[in-house]
Amino acid sequence: MAQQLPTTQVRPHPTSEDLWWRTAVVYQVYVRSFADGNGDGIGDLAGLRARLAYLADLGVDALWINPWYPSPQVDAGYDVTDYRDIEPAYGTLTEAETLIQEAHAAGLRVILDIVPNHTSSEHEWFRAALAGDARARSRYIFRAGRGDSGDLPPNDWRSQFGGPAWTRVSDADGAPGAWYLHLFAPDQPDLNWENDEVREEFEDILRFWFDRGVDGFRIDVAHGLSKTPGLPDAGVRERTALDTAPHPAWDHDDVHEIYRAWRKIADSYEPPRVFVAESWAPSSDRLALYLRPDELHMAFQFDFLQAPFHAEHMRAVADEAMAAVTGVEAPSTWVLSNHDVARHVTRYARSQPEHIVDRVWEQQRWALEGADLELGLRRARAALMLVLALPGSAYLYQGEELGLPEVEDIPAVLRQDPLFEQSGRTILGRDGCRVPLPWSGSSPPYGFSPGGTIAEPWLPQPTNWGPLAASAQSKDPASTLNLYRQCLRVRRHLLESPFSWVDSPQGTLALRRGGVECWLNTSDAPVNLPAGQVLVRSTSADDHNLLRPNSAAWVFTP
Ligand code: GLC
Ligand code: CA
Repeated sequence: MAQQLPTTQVRPHPTSEDLWWRTAVVYQVYVRSFADGNGDGIGDLAGLRARLAYLADLGVDALWINPWYPSPQVDAGYDVTDYRDIEPAYGTLTEAETLIQEAHAAGLRVILDIVPNHTSSEHEWFRAALAGDARARSRYIFRAGRGDSGDLPPNDWRSQFGGPAWTRVSDADGAPGAWYLHLFAPDQPDLNWENDEVREEFEDILRFWFDRGVDGFRIDVAHGLSKTPGLPDAGVRERTALDTAPHPAWDHDDVHEIYRAWRKIADSYEPPRVFVAESWAPSSDRLALYLRPDELHMAFQFDFLQAPFHAEHMRAVADEAMAAVTGVEAPSTWVLSNHDVARHVTRYARSQPEHIVDRVWEQQRWALEGADLELGLRRARAALMLVLALPGSAYLYQGEELGLPEVEDIPAVLRQDPLFEQSGRTILGRDGCRVPLPWSGSSPPYGFSPGGTIAEPWLPQPTNWGPLAASAQSKDPASTLNLYRQCLRVRRHLLESPFSWVDSPQGTLALRRGGVECWLNTSDAPVNLPAGQVLVRSTSADDHNLLRPNSAAWVFTP
């Protein structure tokens, strides 16, 4: 029953340095949109290397780098052809090794993104499978179709991007043959995790990068690897990405054995390496199973992605998320935005519903209600101060420190997310949060590409982003960038202090960490702050002991 041993018995002497991840603030680098070093309009490793000082100065502890491997980029790199190399548009393996060293020298740890649920359909394994190689086929999930001539999919599972989760291939003689499973795009065939070669391959990939000094991995769709044997029909309505109802394709118990093996590998390194799971488990209890002491260290708690800006909802999701991990002694892992959801400035820029929302709901109301981005930004700044005051680790998505909004009006012809076409254009997709960052200047590409570049950024940038550029904000003490810097500095003093909620009026919430109280006001009226010294506030106005609507403050109350 190894999974029930406390952490200390799994690994005898964790030093406090080894436990860095429990309180870390991790910055998500979406390479393609971070910074372009060579002028082709696509972010790359040179661009990232040139801005490591910016990230160190921001005050984050680690970077999580979205997939940087060679890929046809059907799903922005989540379709990998070679897990041991670098996408040529981004750079080379040697450059990646240098980047890891430079990040470490700047005090930043490096977490990579591993995509074990599926490969690209261009991966050599899948090419061999299509060519009819039986051994290669057994690494994927091929099944005969249903119906008299096998022309119906093997079961009723749906792709996360729309349409059936199965595509039929042709036999060598050109006759229609078997079907293969893809829970995402047809270009992302699911691997068969009952196959030992698949397991060995990924364990080897982990070692490949750990040997190069990588500090950990974010595990893509960690709850998808093991399917219910027999692949039974789900018999339910189409499942959306945020839908967490039980389903035979997701969160099967067999997946835990894979992570127990991975944990042993991570623990065999000095210092030990870490994992953070993207796991949309159907309940908090199911999520906690991934976090048992001999499995994964962290799992994103996506609750704030779905919570409206209402103190009561925010407190409820925070409570539930904290309760979910206490039994397994894992840290909470907070997220306000990532590359899969509308940016939170925009989520907060419209009226806030009294219910949990998902991406589809969010995008459907874009046409119905105008966005008040100033209000959205005020709320986003306040929400950040709540999340950074809560115990645990926090993940920031690049550009949120600049207060970037979602770009809602990308023309259809320029949209790149497979979700857009595969959903029959009913879902706009995720491009709006993936627009290249503004670094300097007053017009596109805002320093994203080097001066003199002719190539346009791979997604168009709005023409009014000049004031949001990092260099403009850097000089302004009241900017969102400087609020992030200030919060990250002050947060270090809160980390060791116990957490408790403090009573506060309706429409507000308040919590205490040692001598500091964090207050958030989501109501329409100002409230009084406790007596003490205001250390940070989310608005620039000096309101003494008043906390305005849609704002937050950290107050030292000795
Ligand atoms: C995860 C990623 C998402 C990707 C999907 C398929 O949900 O975050 O961007 O499309 O997995 O790999
Ligand atoms: Ca480039």
